[in-house]
Amino acid sequence: MEIFINEVMVEALAGGSLAAWPDGAIVVKDGFMAGEPHIVVAMQKRGDAWFFAEYETSGEVVYSGDPHACTRCHDDGDDGILAFDLPR
Ligand code: HEC
Repeated sequence: MEIFINEVMVEALAGGSLAAWPDGAIVVKDGFMAGEPHIVVAMQKRGDAWFFAEYETSGEVVYSGDPHACTRCHDDGDDGILAFDLPR
């Protein structure tokens, strides 16, 4: 997999201690299987809530919004993010 973050996330990571990720933060994860693109998942902070989406490699939307398919894991993370922690 590969994880991408937007400028809002870059600035948040550089800015010191945070209790929550800022509005407008975006994280995208590309998943691969046997070297081929397999899945694209994304999350965007909108106010104090995350918007989640999962796409087929064709661009077709599999899930979007606040689906249990995502929040059942991402609620437990550090403000939803699981691959890296909030800056302390
Ligand atoms: C079974 C638990 C689980 C479910 C369900 C799940 N994720 Fe994740 N997700 C993870 C874990 C663990 C990571 C950390 C990196 C990794 O191991 O892939 C992650 C990483 C991510 C990342 C990269 C940013 C981060 O949090 O590290 C995004 C974006 C993401 N997931 C989006 C989604 C979306 C969208 C859904 C619903 C369609 C979803 N995930 C469902 C466990 C889950």
